[in-house]
Amino acid sequence: MKTFIYPGSFDPVTNGHLDIILRAAALCDKLIVAVGDNVNKATTFSKQERIELLRTAIGDVSGITVEPLDGLLTDFAKKKNSKTIIKGLRALSDFEYEFQMALLNKILDSEIETLFMMTNVKYSYLSSSAVKELARNAGKIEGLVPESIRDRVLDKFKNCK
Ligand code: PNS
Repeated sequence: MKTFIYPGSFDPVTNGHLDIILRAAALCDKLIVAVGDNVNKATTFSKQERIELLRTAIGDVSGITVEPLDGLLTDFAKKKNSKTIIKGLRALSDFEYEFQMALLNKILDSEIETLFMMTNVKYSYLSSSAVKELARNAGKIEGLVPESIRDRVLDKFKNCK
């Protein structure tokens, strides 16, 4: 049973994330999307909201679960019997942070491998921050987040301008 873990803050999930989720799920028996907090970023959506948005976006695709990530990712991976972390890469700007995280995780647990998947070129410009910036300023977010969660993302920003 090959279990991969795709961790992230997903604040909120974008079509770029969903694309990686579906492509990664096709390479393993079980994909766990682990929703954590990045100490460098304050989130707009609570962890429970981010989990619910992901679950709605993924729908009933089999072999994928969404779970909260509390504590260290390597401890989570061990608990789930997984040795593979999946991360998406867009531009060179992602590389330095991801490189550091992958090496830190390797120091914490030498059995764990981090595999990088290149973003779909369609979404190479896309980020959760860009989605929030647009939503906050009444911009269009069609095509940037899964259709099933679009209204919930827009609702979050309705009263804050
Ligand atoms: O989408 P992000 O912001 O890149 O996600 C970052 C996240 C949540 C995957 C990362 O901060 C993380 O792994 N947090 C758990 C704590 C941990 O293990 N940190 C890495 C070693 S210090």
